Amino acid sequence: MPARPSETPTPPVAPRFAALEHRPSADYRLLADRSAIILGDAHAVLESLPAGSVQTVVTSPPYWSLRDYGVPGQIGLEASVYAFIDALAELFDAVRRVLRDDGTLWLDIGDSYTSGNRGWRAPDRKNVARAMTTRPPTPEGLKEKDLIGVPWRLAFALQERGWYLRSDLVWSKPNAQPESVRDRPTRSHEYLFLLSKSPHYRYDVDAVRGPNGRRVRSVWELNTQADREASGHFATFPPGLVEPCVLLGSGPGDLVLDPFLGSGTTALVAGRLGRRFAGVELNPEYFAMSRRRLAAAGFTEEPGEPGGPAWPGRPSIGG
Ligand SMILES: C[S@@+](CC[C@H](N)C(=O)[O-])C[C@H]1O[C@@H](n2cnc3c(N)ncnc32)[C@H](O)[C@@H]1O
Repeated sequence: MPARPSETPTPPVAPRFAALEHRPSADYRLLADRSAIILGDAHAVLESLPAGSVQTVVTSPPYWSLRDYGVPGQIGLEASVYAFIDALAELFDAVRRVLRDDGTLWLDIGDSYTSGNRGWRAPDRKNVARAMTTRPPTPEGLKEKDLIGVPWRLAFALQERGWYLRSDLVWSKPNAQPESVRDRPTRSHEYLFLLSKSPHYRYDVDAVRGPNGRRVRSVWELNTQADREASGHFATFPPGLVEPCVLLGSGPGDLVLDPFLGSGTTALVAGRLGRRFAGVELNPEYFAMSRRRLAAAGFTEEPGEPGGPAWPGRPSIGG
């Protein structure tokens, strides 16, 4: 059963946020007491965020080699899975710098199978996000049809780089898409990892209760969910997956970060739960989507600091 928040997600006042476009001189001082979504590259933005400013991070990086989100600088298109893991591990080094010492990272990451060196992938008509037209070669050391094990490879890489790997959580999806394969079970889960910066960290064990008042367990059953405002982004988090992470890992007013914001689910949930948020997204279309989604949820958009990061013009960004 899914973990259910024991707290009702209704902040006393409508959450406010700024929508900013990253530029190299940005300092993001406004995040000391405000929320923002930022159009830019996660690495570049993280470098500009103050150290120790974030209480918890809830995020899902792109899958390796599954989607071309159509923007230069995107993570996920590396030629080898090892380069992909390295790129993500470096990114999460930067995340660790901006986390408070008692901060946590909730990391949802998808897996995939080797191509068996078939250089072609069937076109994906269902998803607006472009399907890849080619598949990368089978990674060295793996064979055709191997499950790559991306989540655990990344978890171990982060552990080696100093993160405390505290829990694997299984997101079980009862409404998972059927698959055409006939020689293995249909995949209906994803991994979510809880990692911390230090051995002792904020984890509000009483903030979320499962059925019969039980403490949160490590299998969360939750349907994938289509959201009208997020249609066009294929890989949205269900808000119910983000809620327990935010409640367990932060308190009211704390800053919650998602460096791969996509359609804005983490920002939406954090704001509704009375947390501040910072979300970074590289693709202008998805950035505009989160902006619209937050507005549709009643969040108020406010200008950035004078002299701070640029205020993106509505005509070019949309929204
Ligand atoms: C799996 S999706 C995140 C979906 C999100 N959890 C949601 O609920 O909508 C990953 C996102 O990372 C973005 N992305 C890829 N490379 C990036 C980068 N270097 N900096 C920031 N965002 C990036 C993609 O455009 C995509 O929207």
